[in-house]
Amino acid sequence: MRIFIDSANLEEIRRAAAYGIVDGVTTNPSLIAKEGREHHDQIRAICAIIGGDVSAEVVATEADAMVAEGRDLAKIHDSVVVKIPLIRDGIKAVSRLTAEGIRTNVTLCFTATQALLAAKAGAYLISPFMGRLDDISQPGAELIREIVTIYDKYGFATQVLAASARGPLHVKESALAGAHVCTLPYKVFDKLFNHPLTDIGLEQFLADHRRSLVTA
Ligand code: E4P
Repeated sequence: MRIFIDSANLEEIRRAAAYGIVDGVTTNPSLIAKEGREHHDQIRAICAIIGGDVSAEVVATEADAMVAEGRDLAKIHDSVVVKIPLIRDGIKAVSRLTAEGIRTNVTLCFTATQALLAAKAGAYLISPFMGRLDDISQPGAELIREIVTIYDKYGFATQVLAASARGPLHVKESALAGAHVCTLPYKVFDKLFNHPLTDIGLEQFLADHRRSLVTA
C-alpha cells in the first residue's frame, strides 16, 4: 500500500519525505487555503519536494471549466494528478481528461456505486472518505472493502485511495481492506511510529549496553 501525506504544508511534507517511505501528497482547496499562497505556486513547491503523485483539486464545477482547469494543473508538473469532485459534471470531465492522457483522482466519494462511475470514466484514483463516513456513524472501512471487491471483480485499473484518515486504525483498516493508497495528515503519519514497548525496549537495550561497557 502506498502512503501519501494529506497536506499542503511544505514543512510537514519535507519532514515526512525525509523517511523515504512516502509515495505522494494529496491536497484539497481547504488545505491549500491554510497555506496562504497561490494554488499553482504551492503545488509546484510540493512537487519539488516529493517524487510521487501530487493531487491538485479543481474548483470549477462545470465540465468544460473543470477540463480547462485540469489541463492547467497538469501542466504544472508530471507528478500532478488532477482531483475532481464526484458530481455529474466531474464524471464528464474525468472521461475527457482520461482520453487526453491526464490522470485524475476522483474525490468526495461516499458510496461504492459512485466509485463504479469513477472507474467507468477511467479515473486513475478514487478517494473514498473514511473519516467523514465514520463521523456520521457509517463504517468507512466497509466502503473501502466494497470498492476494492468491485474493482477486482471487474478488473478496473482505478486505484483505491483511502482518504480522510483520522488515526492509525484507519491506516490498518485501509491496508486490510486492500486499498492501494492511504493518505494521511502528518499528525496521523507520525503516530504510526509509536509504541510504548518500543521505547521501553530500546531504553533497556541501551542501558544494558552502557552497563556492559562499565563492567568490561
Ligand atoms: C483527500 O484527498 C482529502 O483531502 C482528505 O483526506 C479529506 O480529509 P478530511 O475529512 O480530514 O478533511
